[in-house]
Amino acid sequence: MTNPDAPIGVFDSGLGGLSVLASMRERLPDQSIVYIADSEYAPYGEKTDAFIRERSKAIADWLVERGAKMIVVACNTATTHAIGHLRATLTVPVVGVEPGIKPAALSTASGVVGVLATAATLRSERLKALIAEHEARCRFVCQAGHGLVEQIERGNLNGTVVDDLLLRYLTPMAQAGADTVILGSTHFALLYATIRRLFADRFALIETGSAIARRVETLLIEREGAADAAAKTNPRGRLEYFSTARSPQQRQALLAVVRRLPTMSNVEPFVSHADVPSPVAAGILP
Ligand code: DGL
Repeated sequence: MTNPDAPIGVFDSGLGGLSVLASMRERLPDQSIVYIADSEYAPYGEKTDAFIRERSKAIADWLVERGAKMIVVACNTATTHAIGHLRATLTVPVVGVEPGIKPAALSTASGVVGVLATAATLRSERLKALIAEHEARCRFVCQAGHGLVEQIERGNLNGTVVDDLLLRYLTPMAQAGADTVILGSTHFALLYATIRRLFADRFALIETGSAIARRVETLLIEREGAADAAAKTNPRGRLEYFSTARSPQQRQALLAVVRRLPTMSNVEPFVSHADVPSPVAAGILP
């Protein structure tokens, strides 16, 4: 039995997990959440598998030390490379996020689906296995979103550079006949409105934030009971934000993105610096 008033720990390589946080906040407003952006080390998608695994473990340990009753890995890249290791080594439940391959395969009418994800997610065995499971039903056009995460980490969710990169990555998907695009990185879910502006209704866009929020709710009910989960004394859970970024400007970008999220715009956030020792010091190079 966990302490129902303990916070849920949510982490991402940076700001992308805020898209998951927004869905969690909407569904579970009474839950306290500690969010940590590992922005000093973003993008994870361009790092080695060992680095992603060790860094994810260091961040998850930090959250558990702060009393997290559950960990949400709000990062596709960290999930694909680290979730097994986290589940094997942590005593709290760990929820991950995976590109929505199955919902896309079930809903595409054209039989062609675009997958926009990080290079590290695309090369992972986990994603390859997921794609293989559904390949009989449709064709997947995969594209690494190089350069997009760096822009988002600066708070740029649109603008010339982001627009140009999205046009370069998604136009070939449209030309291949894709009617559905999977936003296979939580960072890219933040580009939803920009993609709509550039491509109108050309694609159905699949992101998994609300599915993760539902999964977290189910786990909470299993562990804390429906009544406890629903009838908490705290009318609105506390939100705490941390970032490993040393630069105050980079931490400011987190605030700018939070203010643009639909369910969070009236929350006045403050971002603290978190010092989480790097596995680079332990000899694991990015
Ligand atoms: N937010 C991460 C994801 O969902 C990727 C960003 C990165 O490359 O660090 O995959």
